[in-house]
Amino acid sequence: MASETPLPAFSAIIVAAGKGLRAGGDTPKQFRKWRGKPVVMHSVDALNAAGCGSIVIVAPPGLHAEALAAAGEPANAVTVDGGVTRQESVRAGLERIGEKKPERVLIHDAARPDLPMAVIERLLAALETHAGAIPALPVVDSLAVSDSNSTMTGKADREILRRVQTPQAFRYADIVAAHRSWTGALDAGDDAQVLMAGGGSVALVQGDERLKKMTFAQDFADGRTVAQFRVGQG
Ligand code: CTP
Ligand code: MG
Repeated sequence: MASETPLPAFSAIIVAAGKGLRAGGDTPKQFRKWRGKPVVMHSVDALNAAGCGSIVIVAPPGLHAEALAAAGEPANAVTVDGGVTRQESVRAGLERIGEKKPERVLIHDAARPDLPMAVIERLLAALETHAGAIPALPVVDSLAVSDSNSTMTGKADREILRRVQTPQAFRYADIVAAHRSWTGALDAGDDAQVLMAGGGSVALVQGDERLKKMTFAQDFADGRTVAQFRVGQG
């Protein structure tokens, strides 16, 4: 249900510059259809339904027109070239969205098309007290530590671990400064750890199983099963 109070203003970066190698196929997964429309269009529509200001779609070099078409030609979106790693793509998006001087920015994987409004609400609420906020879920399975020969060498404590999703929400000034001064791995993989390295505090808000990342070819088939299940749920 939509909240009574309007959400604080925010902008968004959708990283859509990956090759989708694990999913295979001729077209990168974020531009393929899933539940009736291109994967990336789902996120654009969800963000705009939540009142998003500007959107930067980080696109594969040479595929900007394809990216905009797959996004549904949103009037509030522009594209920028992505990089070789997700981190480079995020950085390019951060520099471009900076032209709009946003106070808050959501950074989202195009590959996570099912974006519930309630998650956006929880993230923006947590940004009132933290420089960053990310959706996270508990681990339900037991965890084994493995050596390189797939022999178990120990167990990990699942109680202290969380599965992290996107969108991740940040105060723009903090996340752009943290990315510019990051000296860690070339692909941090996750923007929350970049913020933490820069001294920012990150709130964990409740994630949602629907935010699963489309990763393998099979995920495109599974969408139908999930859709039927959800219809059945009313
Ligand atoms: N991404 C990006 N730029 C990159 C790599 C990834 O913008 N250089 C984006 C992807 O388009 C995706 C998100 O980051 O929306 C998460 O990455 P992932 O699921 O790993 O997508 P791919 O890298 O495209 O897939 P794969 O790793 O299977 O090749
Ligand atoms: Mg990848």
